[in-house]
Amino acid sequence: MKIVVIHGANLNFLGLREPDVYGSMSFDELKSRIDAHAPDVHQFQSNHEGEIVDIIQKCHLEGMEGIIINPGAYSHYSYAIHDAIKAVPCPVIEVHLSNIHAREDFRRKSVTAAACIGQISGFGADSYLLAIDQLLRRK
Ligand code: DQA
Repeated sequence: MKIVVIHGANLNFLGLREPDVYGSMSFDELKSRIDAHAPDVHQFQSNHEGEIVDIIQKCHLEGMEGIIINPGAYSHYSYAIHDAIKAVPCPVIEVHLSNIHAREDFRRKSVTAAACIGQISGFGADSYLLAIDQLLRRK
């Protein structure tokens, strides 16, 4: 199954940013954990909303069969990313390292998750691995 993981805004700063919330794992370590779990998965990171839209569209044009996305803070307000997810036929799962439902009010709502088949939130790197397993189970 052709699966893509899209890492959104500020995730390249993992390990440096708010370690009390996101832990000490670096972005490279996160990518390596995903790679070790599912070596064929492609991974992209962008801090730019429009570029994330482009990547989602490209996933469809290149025949990807499942997308896992952590949009970062864009989750909470990006209708452009919501619409891009809606526009592609393949299943999309939203993931978060932290449990966004147990954090500040503005994080408790995800406008992008509403376009996805589901959301996994709060399990650190395992959120991504659980999402991969779920996509593979659906196949
Ligand atoms: C995050 C949660 C978001 O609220 C935040 O803006 C992030 C990371 C997470 O993975 O827990 O950048 O998506």
